[in-house]
Amino acid sequence: MPSIVGTLKRMMASGGKSEPPPQLVMWYLQAAAPSIREVDRCEVRNFRSGDEDGWLELLQVNGALGDWDRARVQKVLFATHEQFFVECEGKIVACTGVNDKERDGKPCWEIGWVAVDPAFQGRGIGKLIVGTAVARALELGARPIYLLTDDFRVPALCSYLRLGFAPDDSHASYTRRWLDIFALLGADYQVYKPSFITVGDT
Ligand SMILES: CC(C)(COP(=O)(O)OP(=O)(O)OC[C@H]1O[C@@H](n2cnc3c(N)ncnc32)[C@H](O)[C@@H]1OP(=O)(O)O)[C@@H](O)C(=O)NCCC(=O)NCCS
Repeated sequence: MPSIVGTLKRMMASGGKSEPPPQLVMWYLQAAAPSIREVDRCEVRNFRSGDEDGWLELLQVNGALGDWDRARVQKVLFATHEQFFVECEGKIVACTGVNDKERDGKPCWEIGWVAVDPAFQGRGIGKLIVGTAVARALELGARPIYLLTDDFRVPALCSYLRLGFAPDDSHASYTRRWLDIFALLGADYQVYKPSFITVGDT
């Protein structure tokens, strides 16, 4: 929980304007890998040279992660520790990467740039690729695993909760925001409500 003094200092540093709230953070805190369901005629595999065009096409058709060109894909590839794709009948339809990052001064694995081709969404491919990336991160070494996401990305939030990611409560805005998110989710997601919002539950 940030201190009042810290919040005031940040407000003064920004000339009194309030900063935009940070992205949501979710942690994978379990020792065991998530259970992963295979998807018919699709396989998860690592990056191979020559994947760049299919990857760029996927990010462009996905359309929910900003503007992409070859240079941006190359930059992400350079920064990624291990890059995964789901390929279905010869087409790259999903991507994510395991990234070597630090949070609060500690080495972590970040699961980043998750996207599924809209024509293939809702079939379990998102959970398949993120679950595989988490399993790999667990194999890579004993580090906390996290991802960054946004309040409006409901299918992403659903997938991450199902896989076992837990909401982080380190920012003052998170309680209200997760309360609003859980209010939108169906009854079968309420079991994933973190204790920092079930207490009081307003
Ligand atoms: C997030 C994303 C990768 C999920 O891919 P996917 O293959 O559709 O995911 P899955 O099929 O494995 O799971 C989707 C879950 O969301 C739920 N869901 C809720 N609203 C949904 C919607 N409008 N469309 C699809 N799924 C939805 C599904 O029911 C499913 O949950 P379940 O396991 O309880 O049934 C995909 O929606 C996407 O590319 N979104 C845009 C990019 C993005 O937001 N990336 C995440 C950045 S943090």
